[in-house]
Amino acid sequence: MSDGGQRTHGPLGTALVIIPTYNEAENIGLIVGRVRAAVPEAHILVTDDNSPDGTGKLADELAAGDDHVHVLHRKGKEGLGAAYLAGFVWGLDEGYGVIVEMDADGSHQPEELPRLLTALAGADLVLGSRWVPGGRVVNWPKTREFLSRGGSTYSRLMLDVPIRDVTGGYRAFRRETLEGLGLEEVASAGYCFQVDLARRAVKKGFRVVEVPITFVEREFGDSKMSKDIVVEALWRVTQWGLKAQAAKLLGKDSGKDTGKDSGEGTGKRDGSA
Ligand code: GDD
Ligand code: MN
Repeated sequence: MSDGGQRTHGPLGTALVIIPTYNEAENIGLIVGRVRAAVPEAHILVTDDNSPDGTGKLADELAAGDDHVHVLHRKGKEGLGAAYLAGFVWGLDEGYGVIVEMDADGSHQPEELPRLLTALAGADLVLGSRWVPGGRVVNWPKTREFLSRGGSTYSRLMLDVPIRDVTGGYRAFRRETLEGLGLEEVASAGYCFQVDLARRAVKKGFRVVEVPITFVEREFGDSKMSKDIVVEALWRVTQWGLKAQAAKLLGKDSGKDTGKDSGEGTGKRDGSA
């Protein structure tokens, strides 16, 4: 327990901003500083996969001087999904009321976080969205924009989720939302982890709201996007979509493919956003 029981900020409790890192040495100090300035009451958990460039050690140094900063060291690179899942378990265990996902490289501007947190007052999950009116991307190559927009559109149609930016990684969850998603069944390793969580939230009837953000491409370091990540996403989204459609044709609840979906409907409202 870091500061046991002191999760009392705001009606939803204290927010934990999880920042997964793999080789983000140039960025980690900057992003932690910006989050601390933008939302001083929030805590930060850096989830580092034993970055060869020493990001984990830098994070330890930041944590040593600031009781709002925590570090989870993992043994090696296991993908964004695994890093977040470990962070969620830590955050829920520590009693945080709100859990935020944020990239380390400055693409998700901490200065926009208050807007996401405000929206969470009327939602179970808030998605920072590049592809709703008011949302935009700065300095992305056209090829990357095409991939992201295409991926979002394909996922939206295939999975029947009313979300414009379903692959985005700037998000705020109420703890109850994470507890209700069935995280123990999530197998997605790469960036399709984001699609996986979004579709689960919609399917379970949580209120999912998109808030426009300005996504700024990183200045330092490199993207970890790879062909393997794209292939995993395409493969999984196609599989989820076909399963759901087959279930529909057979007259079964399309939620069945995630296992224990039939459970409690308590407090879950219409998931459309
Ligand atoms: N711990 C850990 N392990 N962190 C990782 C790993 C991993 O295997 N892979 C990536 N990360 C971290 C990076 O260090 C960074 O902080 C964040 O995850 C995002 O990685 P980037 O490599 O910067 O992602 P991107 O800019 O190409 O992709 C953005 O768009 C995707 C698609 O919309 C991100 O916003 C993704 O979250 C998003 O899914
Ligand atoms: Mn990035």
